[in-house]
Amino acid sequence: MLNFDFYNKTKIFFGKDVELQAGSLCKATGAKVLLHYGGGSIKKSGLYDRIVKSLNDADVQFVELGGVQPNPRLSLVKEGIELCRKEKIGLILAVGGGSVADSAKAIGVGVEYAGDVWDFYMGKASPEKMLPVAVVLTIPAAGSEASPSSVISNEEAELKKGLTNIILRPEFSLLNPELTYTLPDYQTACGIADMLAHVMERYFTTTKGVELSDRLCESVMKTVIHQAYRVMQNPEDYTARAEIMWAGTIAHNDMIGCGRSQDWSSHGIEHEISAIYDVAHGAGLSVVFPAWMKHVYKSNVGRFARFAHEVFNVDYDFENPESTALQGIAELEQFFRDINLPVRLSDMDIDDTNIEKMASKVTDDGSHTIGGFKELTKSDIQNILNLALK
Ligand code: NZQ
Ligand code: ZN
Repeated sequence: MLNFDFYNKTKIFFGKDVELQAGSLCKATGAKVLLHYGGGSIKKSGLYDRIVKSLNDADVQFVELGGVQPNPRLSLVKEGIELCRKEKIGLILAVGGGSVADSAKAIGVGVEYAGDVWDFYMGKASPEKMLPVAVVLTIPAAGSEASPSSVISNEEAELKKGLTNIILRPEFSLLNPELTYTLPDYQTACGIADMLAHVMERYFTTTKGVELSDRLCESVMKTVIHQAYRVMQNPEDYTARAEIMWAGTIAHNDMIGCGRSQDWSSHGIEHEISAIYDVAHGAGLSVVFPAWMKHVYKSNVGRFARFAHEVFNVDYDFENPESTALQGIAELEQFFRDINLPVRLSDMDIDDTNIEKMASKVTDDGSHTIGGFKELTKSDIQNILNLALK
């Protein structure tokens, strides 16, 4: 096991009606609040009204900024920074999914910085402070409700970049599984693919002697897959929604990644796809991950065979572990198909036009490699995207 530091300050409130505590929790901070949300799902579901009432009942002063798009845009972040400065905001309350939470975090670090907030995402500067952020989560997926990360799209530059820094963890997050009943099946499935990917980026490691986190990873993956079928059958199955929601947080608050090297190539490649084609992050991952696996499994057949056996109950063929490994990849692909996710770029009407461009962008013109499980060059990435094509 590698040395590690782990600190997660995010206080989680989980269960039915927890969103009604938003007002009193915000009030306790004494701050004026920016209520930040997305494109309208919270108004349609009635959640917006409940949050506003909770803030009003607690006598919290607030202003609002809606309109966050999936793959949240830098332009709205900049608008939010100006608004927070003008209104002397002390807390950002993000009501929505990863996109809203990530936009809130970007605004939070931008307010505290005299330069261009995009500097942080390009690695030109490191944030030292963030305006406190709190989250009412409506889709289990990105894990931003407890993660130290934010991913923002610079629409003009066709770039999608992540920022990770311990100060980006929210102060508190309110997770009510019932809020996810209104999710379209496709969004539920995209969220499931994303949380599985967060575990797999950690599971496929080169670090030895990490039995505890190996087993934690397997347990999260098995649970998510099992509950995914239940939730697809009955979107109002509270237990299934609750298991998936908590798994989404566990998958990405890094508890299960402690002490192990991680990979993150599939995420890097996916971000290039969603930067150009504006697809849902989880859908990009259900296409990229199986292709990545096919490209890299030979570098550690045993790990892939274990994945197949432990996560998908594939019989372990000791004579031919490669066949077990390949069966595991096929099972993952079948699982994605079962929940109606794309598994090829062509399923999302994406052809090979930008393959070279995407491989080039993720490696800065081939000047560096990516990946912890297996180092990938620009040409490896082109190969992965070609494997994902049809
Ligand atoms: O915008 P509204 O109208 O609210 O609709 C949203 C949006 O269209 C809808 N939705 C959310 N909750 C709903 C709902 N519709 C009905 N009922 C509900 N309860 O779902 C759509 C997707 O929302 P979004 O926030 O974009 O989804 P997600 O949570 O998957 O976030 C994706 C973003 O997170 C980034 C991704 O790259 C992507 O930009 N990520 C952030 C990470 C982090 N901060 O740690 C890590 C991840 O790997 C990921 O990269
Ligand atoms: Zn992700």
